[in-house]
Amino acid sequence: MPRLENRVVLLSGGASGIGAETARLVVREGGKAVLADRDEAKGLALAAELGTAAHFVPLDVTQEPSWQAAVAATVEKFGALHGLLNAAGVGVRNTIEDCTLEEYRRVNDINSLGTFLGCKLAIPAMKASGGGSIVNISSVLGLRGAAHAMAYSASKGAVRSLTKNVALHCAQMKYNIRCNSVHPGYIDTPMIAPRLEQNVENMSGRQFLEELHPLGRLGRPEEVANMILFLLSDESTFSTGSEFVCDGGLTA
Ligand SMILES: NC(=O)c1ccc[n+]([C@@H]2O[C@H](COP(=O)([O-])OP(=O)(O)OC[C@H]3O[C@@H](n4cnc5c(N)ncnc54)[C@H](O)[C@@H]3O)[C@@H](O)[C@H]2O)c1
Repeated sequence: MPRLENRVVLLSGGASGIGAETARLVVREGGKAVLADRDEAKGLALAAELGTAAHFVPLDVTQEPSWQAAVAATVEKFGALHGLLNAAGVGVRNTIEDCTLEEYRRVNDINSLGTFLGCKLAIPAMKASGGGSIVNISSVLGLRGAAHAMAYSASKGAVRSLTKNVALHCAQMKYNIRCNSVHPGYIDTPMIAPRLEQNVENMSGRQFLEELHPLGRLGRPEEVANMILFLLSDESTFSTGSEFVCDGGLTA
């Protein structure tokens, strides 16, 4: 039995990395995947690979009209909205002393405000579809600090907290909409590719990041996508407002 049969899922950041692997799983499990991303070339290529169960819509998560158009296009194309993955994000290294106001705003606009807008604008369409599941990608750096990734960590802490408030509101309103956050460790995607090339403490960047994880390696995007699939499906119907960690033991 497919785990997402006829479920329609909108994925921000669906063109790359964790979002793209989740889109592949959604289609494999009988669902429809709407890839929403600012990278049109990658999004269109993946939609072509996935066939008629997938569709690409351009999206800038920082812009409310862009989200409105993406949700409307989803409902127009597939007739409903049952799942939302907020995976669009940027990773930036900075400290409280060297981060500019402009950079702090940019990172928080994409990672945090973008997730707020996604939740806010998807909820009416999910209600009209009988309910659904929202999955917000935070990070292990949303659970603890990181002096070298201050703005990123702050933005991901906001995603963790936002998730709980969305979950509580939807539960109180009896919308049949759940909302959970996922907290990956370092996952081998284009986002961290530049860091893998930079030497740290006489090690390659890859070796340095691998050694942060007790399992001794980076995560693979499909390992996070499997956790997201569980949260999008009816296998997780008693989970809402919760934090799901996928980090090779990093926070243990
Ligand atoms: N890779 C990791 O180590 C890691 C660890 C923890 C959390 N995360 C989080 O997982 C999520 C997915 O990251 P990934 O590793 O798959 O990275 P990725 O770079 O492969 O994918 C991110 C996607 O977001 C899109 N995007 C960026 N800004 C956007 C905007 N303004 N509007 C629309 N789309 C936008 C990009 O075009 C890209 O397709 C991110 O939120 C990231 O912070 C990643």
